[in-house]
Amino acid sequence: MSETTIAFIGGGNMARSLIGGLIADGHPPAALRVAEPDTDRREQMISDFGIQGFEDNATAARGADAVILAVKPHTMADVARDLGNQLRDAGSVVISIAAGVRTTDIADWLGGDVPVIRAMPNTPALVQTGATALFAMPMATADQRDLAETTMRAVGLVVWLPDEQQMDAVTALSGSGPAYFFMTMEVMQAAAERLGLTEETARLLTLETALGAARMALESAEDPATLRRRVTSPGGTTAAALEQLEHADLAAVYQRTLDAAAARAAELGDELGAQ
Ligand SMILES: NC(=O)c1ccc[n+]([C@@H]2O[C@H](COP(=O)([O-])OP(=O)(O)OC[C@H]3O[C@@H](n4cnc5c(N)ncnc54)[C@H](OP(=O)(O)O)[C@@H]3O)[C@@H](O)[C@H]2O)c1
Repeated sequence: MSETTIAFIGGGNMARSLIGGLIADGHPPAALRVAEPDTDRREQMISDFGIQGFEDNATAARGADAVILAVKPHTMADVARDLGNQLRDAGSVVISIAAGVRTTDIADWLGGDVPVIRAMPNTPALVQTGATALFAMPMATADQRDLAETTMRAVGLVVWLPDEQQMDAVTALSGSGPAYFFMTMEVMQAAAERLGLTEETARLLTLETALGAARMALESAEDPATLRRRVTSPGGTTAAALEQLEHADLAAVYQRTLDAAAARAAELGDELGAQ
């Protein structure tokens, strides 16, 4: 990546992952800045990554090509209101990674006329295996979109959405999705322990099976339904197992699961926008 200057506002977990990913991708540390009010956390990032650190948001953002708002959603309105004039004058692109906060609300808080790109990453971004959806306001240029995409790709897969409303579905799928898989792992491990395996053996086999299945599905040209059929011999153990899952109507359970998450995402968006 070129010497594009990127300023992170908020130096928490997600900023740390993105900065680590960008440096691993070859972005020069001297062209990365972080504004973080917590002195220990700020000093730690400066010493870990060799980036520039600031206590003050405006100083960190001054003249940056991209400003990544990486504060908690409820802090976003105050942070954006404080930076609005400066970002408009500098022509910076603003990338928000805050869950639930809509681009139109951020643009309003900034005072308008600032291109805002919204990213919805997920927790596995912390281990560089994230899945991020991006949406850009129409006024964002192709270069600004490229910059947002390159930044988020540093922590995993990136997809673009044509319509911001789809962010609620993304939140329900990849945003909250890691928790669905964690819960599945929890209950599979517990069931295996009840079958007589030790906790450690059940845990290791559960996690490696989840990883292996995901990797096979990603690397295969076949869809998951085909892969499932291929490992299900008639009258075999997998067929006996899947019969139970079908009986429990897993499809309906997951439809209700994602519907509930998407509805809550829409409500949170309304609440955050009313700040
Ligand atoms: N973690 C994830 O997996 C994940 C996934 C999707 C989206 N996100 C989004 O990413 C954003 C950051 O999440 P995170 O997990 O990195 O949170 P976090 O660890 O709490 O990081 C936020 C950082 O911002 C600092 N901060 C607070 N007020 C500030 C201000 N006025 N100006 C500048 N910095 C300020 C906080 O410092 P103090 O602690 O001292 O207040 C903290 O270091 C959130 O909006 C979240 O919705 C995170």
